[in-house]
Amino acid sequence: MNYDIKTTELASVGKQRIDWANRFMPVLDSIRARFEDEQPLNGLRVAACLHVTTETANLMKTLKAGGAEAVLCASNPLSTQDDVAASLVVDEAIGVFAINGEDTETYYKHIDATLDLQPTITMDDGADLVSRLHSEETNPALVEQVVAGTEETTTGVIRLKSMAAEGVLKYPIIAVNDARTKHFFDNRYGTGQSTLDGIIRATNLLIAGTTVVVAGYGWCGRGVASRARGLGANVIVTEVNALKALEAVMDGFRVIPMQKAVQEADLVITLTGDIHVLRKEHFEAMKDGAIIANSGHFNVEIDIPVLEKLSVDKQLARPYVDMYTLEDGRKLYLVGEGRLVNLAAAEGHPASVMDMSFANQALSLEYIAKNHDQFENRVYDVPESIDEMVAELKLQAFGVEIDTLTDEQVKYLNSWEMGT
Ligand code: NAI
Repeated sequence: MNYDIKTTELASVGKQRIDWANRFMPVLDSIRARFEDEQPLNGLRVAACLHVTTETANLMKTLKAGGAEAVLCASNPLSTQDDVAASLVVDEAIGVFAINGEDTETYYKHIDATLDLQPTITMDDGADLVSRLHSEETNPALVEQVVAGTEETTTGVIRLKSMAAEGVLKYPIIAVNDARTKHFFDNRYGTGQSTLDGIIRATNLLIAGTTVVVAGYGWCGRGVASRARGLGANVIVTEVNALKALEAVMDGFRVIPMQKAVQEADLVITLTGDIHVLRKEHFEAMKDGAIIANSGHFNVEIDIPVLEKLSVDKQLARPYVDMYTLEDGRKLYLVGEGRLVNLAAAEGHPASVMDMSFANQALSLEYIAKNHDQFENRVYDVPESIDEMVAELKLQAFGVEIDTLTDEQVKYLNSWEMGT
């Protein structure tokens, strides 16, 4: 078995943490038990490019239990938990290619290493694996062998849809991100909590009483805004979409343009999936001591090259916090090198919410195994039946019961005749 990880010595620590996460992943655990019996993924070769976390480890174990051969590389150079990588290699015999802090060249070398498996399925988080498979540098025979893939995050789905629109996508993808049991919960509650967790772990900032600017009021942004408010911050939202801005206003947030917002901000967090949301004119207007972080997928939301240019000095203020000194002496603090702060400076989403995201992943793979012959080369939604099953299983795990429709109600809801 091939692998490239930091060390195998951390395996027992990794295993302990993976087992702990599994306690909060009852839905995935029940799927794993069924997969062990039914072997629905038998014969599949899965290359996964995901954050190498305890939750991902439990997903990889589920795929293996279902009969798949699987390998894993990182979907971000800073999110790899080296102890988890070690346990997957040592305890589960799953090939992992990921080292925390790897440079860009190693990051892509690791993506390429997963392709040695000659995958029939890809699992991606941000579409770097898919775009690598489609690039000129990759042997074209490899992409021909892939029957389908899945995509975990908003940014990846946007990239893949634009590949499909241009007619260059060479195999079908299921957009796991777009399942309601994924983005309603993972993006909102998962990112909401873990983004602040990352910032707090890195800075030890007291959120109460600070002015926090949240850029983007999509699924992630609204989660962060509501959690920051819950911790006592004065929250300002910035948006470019009128409808989302209106939602933020009616949720009780102040909405103003970024240029004004930065003048008040103690902390700015970007969650837009967009580029250069914080740029030169904003750095120039920021208060001395302002903290900047990003929780969107790529490290392009903050224009770091420009921040570097504007600065006369850069030093590590604390682990995960770079202090930039500007010409006029003001200091700006960048957390986690502008990469997903919840994964760079904390542990990513709590396991309980990843339970639902990764249940969607596992069940989507089972669906692909059964149905891939019928797919075209485009981006598909997760079937509604899977989405509903995940919600039902999660409710069961919480011990929550709900009502069922009576026959009379079913008839009423399906008829148009009855009015006032
Ligand atoms: P979304 O599409 O629901 O929301 C993005 C929002 O940003 C939209 O409302 C859009 O109008 C707004 N926006 C775009 N450009 C803007 C600008 N220049 N200024 C202000 N607002 C702007 O997307 P979602 O699901 O909230 O994801 C956002 C990003 O977070 C994506 O890159 C996604 O991949 C990533 N993500 C990160 C996670 C993490 O663990 N940190 C977890 C899930 C998603």
